[in-house]
Amino acid sequence: AFNLKNRSFLTLSDFSGEEIKFLLKLAKDLKSAKYAGYEVPTLTGKDIALIFEKDSTRTRVGFEVAAYDQGARVTYLGPTGSHIGHKESVKDTARVLGRIYDGIEYRGFGQKVVETLAQYAGVPVFNGLTDEFHPTQILADFLTMQEHVEKPLHQTRYAFLGDAGNNMGNSLLIGGAKMGMDVRLCAPKNCWPVESIQQEARSVARETGAKLTLTENVDEAVRDVDFVYTDVWVSMGEPKEKWAERIKILRPYQVNKDVLDKTGNPHVRFMHCLPAFHDTTTSVGAEIKAEFGLDAMEVIDEVFESPASIVFDQAENRMHTIKAVLVATLGG
Ligand code: CP
Ligand code: NVA
Repeated sequence: AFNLKNRSFLTLSDFSGEEIKFLLKLAKDLKSAKYAGYEVPTLTGKDIALIFEKDSTRTRVGFEVAAYDQGARVTYLGPTGSHIGHKESVKDTARVLGRIYDGIEYRGFGQKVVETLAQYAGVPVFNGLTDEFHPTQILADFLTMQEHVEKPLHQTRYAFLGDAGNNMGNSLLIGGAKMGMDVRLCAPKNCWPVESIQQEARSVARETGAKLTLTENVDEAVRDVDFVYTDVWVSMGEPKEKWAERIKILRPYQVNKDVLDKTGNPHVRFMHCLPAFHDTTTSVGAEIKAEFGLDAMEVIDEVFESPASIVFDQAENRMHTIKAVLVATLGG
């Protein structure tokens, strides 16, 4: 079996395809156990710090409920209220929290920060999203894919449309490469992952047999895929001014009914890590609608609210897969 005890979970790059499969299987088992009412706690008495320098709904509740289900306790440190990053360095914070906690989740800006935390904490550190990567999301996405198609991941095809160089595009590229999947990223060239990430993914793909396509052409990207995935066009931490520019270049990559039809697959499913800008009743949604019109969104309701949409399965699976990471690294 696989021993992931005391490992940090910073990026999928640090894990083999087999280790990722092991985490997915563990998540599936933990999910069944919870549903059946016989979950066995393996984290009794452990303490986990949850650092969020950006907002969160799913990741925070995923970590909290996963920890409680397993008998652990959590402390939430939000975007304000602690000294992290302004009065106390990440290095010092890591050494303090490492004395008191058994594990640390971190959501924030640069990947370097989560790496520094892991380097100095002396306990496992979990990446709850950085500008570059969102690895726990990918575990949830792959578990969800497995639940919706009757074939192994390495025979599964997906297309990501939109801001393909963001944390989701990067992570879906590396994750799919690791699992030997058929991955298509579809966006204007200046929204593709940076060269170093492309190169890493290609070198992984040479070993796993993954098929990676980066294209500006929607028809080519979505033909025959099992899943069409998208994410917001402007991510947390990016300046507001980005909206106008991104909307201008990403409009042709909006996921609508036409895009799903282009797959030629009547069973194609729609995926989104959420939150999604499709609902103009939210303050942000309303603002974008007022300024740029209804078309300025990565997905519209004819898809988001359709039976093809499996976004809330993904959201639930965040909790089960995060639990698998906690159990595998801290359990015992
Ligand atoms: N998908 C995701 O990470 O959602 P939150 O920002 O709500 O945690
Ligand atoms: N790309 C998005 C993902 C949110 C889960 C962001 O970073 O804001």
